[in-house]
Amino acid sequence: MNLNEQQVEAIFHINGPLLILAGAGSGKTRVLTERIANLISRENVAPYNILAVTFTNKAAKEMKERISKRIGEEDTKNIWMGTFHSICSRMLRTDMVLLGRKSNFVIYDNADQTKIINDCIKQANLDKETYQANKIINIISKSKSSGYTAEDYLKKHLSYSDQKIGELFMMYDETLKKNNALDFDDMLFYVVKILKENPDRLS
Ligand SMILES: Nc1ncnc2c1ncn2[C@@H]1O[C@H](COP(=O)(O)OP(=O)(O)OP(=O)(O)O)[C@@H](O)[C@H]1O
Ligand SMILES: [Mg+2]
Repeated sequence: MNLNEQQVEAIFHINGPLLILAGAGSGKTRVLTERIANLISRENVAPYNILAVTFTNKAAKEMKERISKRIGEEDTKNIWMGTFHSICSRMLRTDMVLLGRKSNFVIYDNADQTKIINDCIKQANLDKETYQANKIINIISKSKSSGYTAEDYLKKHLSYSDQKIGELFMMYDETLKKNNALDFDDMLFYVVKILKENPDRLS
Protein backbone atom coordinates (compact mmCIF):
# COMPACT_ATOMS: atom_id res chain seq x y z
CA MET A 1 0.00 0.00 0.00
CA ASN A 2 1.59 3.28 -1.11
CA LEU A 3 0.79 6.06 1.29
CA ASN A 4 2.87 9.05 2.21
CA GLU A 5 3.31 10.43 5.71
CA GLN A 6 0.61 13.10 5.39
CA GLN A 7 -1.87 10.57 4.03
CA VAL A 8 -1.22 8.22 6.95
CA GLU A 9 -1.68 11.05 9.42
CA ALA A 10 -5.02 11.98 7.84
CA ILE A 11 -6.24 8.38 7.63
CA PHE A 12 -5.69 7.71 11.33
CA HIS A 13 -7.11 11.01 12.53
CA ILE A 14 -10.15 10.13 14.66
CA ASN A 15 -11.64 12.92 16.78
CA GLY A 16 -12.56 16.39 15.62
CA PRO A 17 -12.65 18.00 12.21
CA LEU A 18 -9.95 17.57 9.61
CA LEU A 19 -9.57 19.56 6.41
CA ILE A 20 -7.54 18.15 3.56
CA LEU A 21 -6.36 20.50 0.82
CA ALA A 22 -4.47 18.77 -1.97
CA GLY A 23 -4.14 19.02 -5.73
CA ALA A 24 -5.85 17.00 -8.44
CA GLY A 25 -4.87 13.35 -8.52
CA SER A 26 -2.74 13.66 -5.39
CA GLY A 27 -4.54 10.95 -3.40
CA LYS A 28 -7.47 12.66 -1.62
CA THR A 29 -10.06 10.01 -2.43
CA ARG A 30 -7.56 7.37 -1.43
CA VAL A 31 -7.29 9.03 2.00
CA LEU A 32 -11.05 9.24 2.40
CA THR A 33 -11.68 5.61 1.48
CA GLU A 34 -8.84 4.38 3.71
CA ARG A 35 -10.11 6.56 6.52
CA ILE A 36 -13.62 5.13 6.24
CA ALA A 37 -12.24 1.58 6.05
CA ASN A 38 -10.15 2.24 9.16
CA LEU A 39 -13.11 3.63 11.11
CA ILE A 40 -15.17 0.55 10.33
CA SER A 41 -12.63 -2.25 10.56
CA ARG A 42 -10.38 -0.98 13.36
CA GLU A 43 -12.36 1.60 15.29
CA ASN A 44 -15.56 -0.47 15.26
CA VAL A 45 -17.67 2.39 13.97
CA ALA A 46 -21.00 1.13 12.60
CA PRO A 47 -21.15 1.79 8.83
CA TYR A 48 -24.54 3.52 9.17
CA ASN A 49 -22.92 6.08 11.49
CA ILE A 50 -20.70 7.29 8.67
CA LEU A 51 -21.86 10.02 6.32
CA ALA A 52 -19.84 10.54 3.14
CA VAL A 53 -21.11 13.28 0.84
CA THR A 54 -19.92 14.02 -2.69
CA PHE A 55 -20.89 16.67 -5.24
CA THR A 56 -21.30 14.39 -8.23
CA ASN A 57 -22.81 10.97 -8.85
CA LYS A 58 -19.55 9.99 -10.53
CA ALA A 59 -17.55 10.70 -7.37
CA ALA A 60 -20.07 8.82 -5.23
CA LYS A 61 -19.86 5.81 -7.51
CA GLU A 62 -16.07 5.85 -7.43
CA MET A 63 -16.03 6.05 -3.62
CA LYS A 64 -18.53 3.21 -3.30
CA GLU A 65 -16.53 0.97 -5.62
CA ARG A 66 -13.26 1.66 -3.87
CA ILE A 67 -14.65 1.17 -0.37
CA SER A 68 -16.52 -1.93 -1.45
CA LYS A 69 -13.26 -3.50 -2.60
CA ARG A 70 -11.70 -2.58 0.70
CA ILE A 71 -14.37 -3.66 3.22
CA GLY A 72 -16.95 -5.63 1.19
CA GLU A 73 -20.33 -4.85 -0.31
CA GLU A 74 -22.43 -5.45 2.80
CA ASP A 75 -20.79 -2.83 5.03
CA THR A 76 -20.44 -0.40 2.12
CA LYS A 77 -24.19 -0.51 1.47
CA ASN A 78 -24.85 0.63 5.03
CA ILE A 79 -22.67 3.73 4.83
CA TRP A 80 -24.60 6.94 4.16
CA MET A 81 -22.71 7.68 0.97
CA GLY A 82 -23.86 9.67 -2.04
CA THR A 83 -24.47 13.14 -3.42
CA PHE A 84 -26.14 15.80 -1.29
CA HIS A 85 -29.39 15.15 -3.09
CA SER A 86 -29.32 11.36 -2.90
CA ILE A 87 -28.58 11.48 0.82
CA CYS A 88 -31.33 14.03 1.41
CA SER A 89 -33.81 11.99 -0.59
CA ARG A 90 -32.93 8.88 1.46
CA MET A 91 -33.44 10.81 4.71
CA LEU A 92 -36.71 12.31 3.55
CA ARG A 93 -38.12 8.88 2.66
CA THR A 94 -38.22 8.16 6.38
CA ASP A 95 -38.51 11.65 7.86
CA MET A 96 -40.85 13.59 5.59
CA VAL A 97 -43.68 12.57 7.95
CA LEU A 98 -42.10 14.82 10.60
CA LEU A 99 -43.22 17.74 8.41
CA GLY A 100 -46.68 16.30 8.00
CA ARG A 101 -45.95 15.23 4.42
CA LYS A 102 -45.97 11.81 2.78
CA SER A 103 -42.79 9.81 2.31
CA ASN A 104 -43.68 8.56 -1.19
CA PHE A 105 -43.02 11.96 -2.81
CA VAL A 106 -41.92 12.35 -6.41
CA ILE A 107 -38.99 14.57 -7.44
CA TYR A 108 -39.58 17.26 -10.05
CA ASP A 109 -36.87 18.17 -12.53
CA ASN A 110 -36.49 21.42 -14.47
CA ALA A 111 -39.04 20.38 -17.13
CA ASP A 112 -41.66 19.65 -14.45
CA GLN A 113 -40.89 22.96 -12.75
CA THR A 114 -41.28 24.88 -16.01
CA LYS A 115 -44.64 23.29 -16.69
CA ILE A 116 -45.93 24.08 -13.19
CA ILE A 117 -44.72 27.68 -13.19
CA ASN A 118 -46.18 28.30 -16.65
CA ASP A 119 -49.53 27.01 -15.38
CA CYS A 120 -49.25 29.36 -12.38
CA ILE A 121 -48.44 32.36 -14.62
CA LYS A 122 -51.47 31.57 -16.77
CA GLN A 123 -53.74 31.06 -13.78
CA ALA A 124 -52.61 34.38 -12.27
CA ASN A 125 -53.30 36.13 -15.60
CA LEU A 126 -49.75 37.44 -15.78
CA ASP A 127 -47.86 38.27 -18.93
CA LYS A 128 -45.40 35.50 -19.71
CA GLU A 129 -42.94 37.91 -21.32
CA THR A 130 -42.73 40.03 -18.16
CA TYR A 131 -42.76 36.98 -15.90
CA GLN A 132 -40.51 34.50 -17.62
CA ALA A 133 -40.71 30.95 -16.33
CA ASN A 134 -36.96 30.33 -16.16
CA LYS A 135 -36.35 33.58 -14.30
CA ILE A 136 -39.10 32.84 -11.77
CA ILE A 137 -37.73 29.34 -11.25
CA ASN A 138 -34.28 30.83 -10.61
CA ILE A 139 -35.66 33.23 -8.03
CA ILE A 140 -37.54 30.42 -6.27
CA SER A 141 -34.46 28.24 -6.35
CA LYS A 142 -32.18 30.96 -4.95
CA SER A 143 -34.65 31.75 -2.18
CA LYS A 144 -35.01 28.12 -1.16
CA SER A 145 -31.24 27.61 -1.14
CA SER A 146 -30.94 30.59 1.20
CA GLY A 147 -33.58 29.04 3.46
CA TYR A 148 -36.39 31.44 2.51
CA THR A 149 -40.00 30.46 1.92
CA ALA A 150 -42.54 32.20 -0.32
CA GLU A 151 -43.84 34.03 2.78
CA ASP A 152 -40.31 35.30 3.52
CA TYR A 153 -39.99 36.45 -0.09
CA LEU A 154 -43.26 38.37 0.06
CA LYS A 155 -42.22 40.08 3.29
CA LYS A 156 -38.83 41.12 1.92
CA HIS A 157 -39.68 42.22 -1.63
CA LEU A 158 -42.36 44.84 -1.76
CA SER A 159 -42.49 46.17 -5.31
CA TYR A 160 -45.52 45.31 -7.41
CA SER A 161 -43.70 42.87 -9.68
CA ASP A 162 -41.86 41.24 -6.78
CA GLN A 163 -45.16 40.72 -4.97
CA LYS A 164 -46.47 38.99 -8.10
CA ILE A 165 -43.36 36.81 -8.16
CA GLY A 166 -43.92 36.00 -4.48
CA GLU A 167 -47.48 34.98 -5.29
CA LEU A 168 -46.26 32.74 -8.11
CA PHE A 169 -43.75 31.23 -5.67
CA MET A 170 -46.60 30.49 -3.28
CA MET A 171 -48.81 28.97 -6.00
CA TYR A 172 -45.89 26.90 -7.22
CA ASP A 173 -45.23 25.47 -3.75
CA GLU A 174 -48.92 24.76 -3.20
CA THR A 175 -49.03 22.85 -6.48
CA LEU A 176 -46.00 20.79 -5.52
CA LYS A 177 -47.54 20.01 -2.16
CA LYS A 178 -50.82 19.01 -3.80
CA ASN A 179 -48.93 16.75 -6.22
CA ASN A 180 -46.84 15.26 -3.39
CA ALA A 181 -43.75 16.51 -5.21
CA LEU A 182 -40.43 18.09 -4.23
CA ASP A 183 -38.00 20.02 -6.38
CA PHE A 184 -34.23 19.65 -5.88
CA ASP A 185 -34.02 22.71 -3.64
CA ASP A 186 -36.86 21.43 -1.45
CA MET A 187 -34.86 18.30 -0.74
CA LEU A 188 -32.04 20.26 0.89
CA PHE A 189 -34.42 22.81 2.41
CA TYR A 190 -36.58 20.16 4.12
CA VAL A 191 -33.62 18.20 5.45
CA VAL A 192 -32.24 21.37 7.06
CA LYS A 193 -35.68 22.12 8.50
CA ILE A 194 -36.13 18.60 9.88
CA LEU A 195 -32.67 18.56 11.47
CA LYS A 196 -33.17 21.99 13.03
CA GLU A 197 -36.56 21.05 14.45
CA ASN A 198 -35.62 17.49 15.44
CA PRO A 199 -32.00 17.51 16.63
CA ASP A 200 -32.35 13.86 17.71
CA ARG A 201 -32.46 12.92 14.01
CA LEU A 202 -28.81 13.90 13.77
CA SER A 203 -27.71 10.93 15.88
N1 LIG B 1 0.89 7.78 -1.84
C1 LIG B 1 0.62 7.30 -3.05
N2 LIG B 1 1.57 6.74 -3.79
C2 LIG B 1 1.30 6.27 -5.03
N3 LIG B 1 0.11 6.31 -5.61
C3 LIG B 1 -0.91 6.86 -4.92
C4 LIG B 1 -0.71 7.38 -3.61
N4 LIG B 1 -1.89 7.86 -3.17
C5 LIG B 1 -2.78 7.64 -4.16
N5 LIG B 1 -2.20 7.03 -5.21
C6 LIG B 1 -2.83 6.67 -6.49
O1 LIG B 1 -2.93 7.84 -7.27
C7 LIG B 1 -4.15 7.83 -8.03
C8 LIG B 1 -4.98 9.06 -7.69
O2 LIG B 1 -5.43 8.97 -6.34
P1 LIG B 1 -6.84 9.53 -5.87
O3 LIG B 1 -7.88 9.12 -6.84
O4 LIG B 1 -7.04 9.16 -4.46
O5 LIG B 1 -6.53 11.08 -5.99
P2 LIG B 1 -7.54 12.32 -5.86
O6 LIG B 1 -6.76 13.40 -5.19
O7 LIG B 1 -8.79 11.90 -5.22
O8 LIG B 1 -7.75 12.65 -7.38
P3 LIG B 1 -8.90 13.61 -8.03
O9 LIG B 1 -8.40 15.00 -7.86
O10 LIG B 1 -8.92 13.16 -9.46
O11 LIG B 1 -10.18 13.34 -7.30
C9 LIG B 1 -4.85 6.53 -7.69
O12 LIG B 1 -4.55 5.58 -8.66
C10 LIG B 1 -4.24 6.15 -6.35
O13 LIG B 1 -4.28 4.75 -6.12
MG1 LIG C 1 -10.84 12.10 -5.91
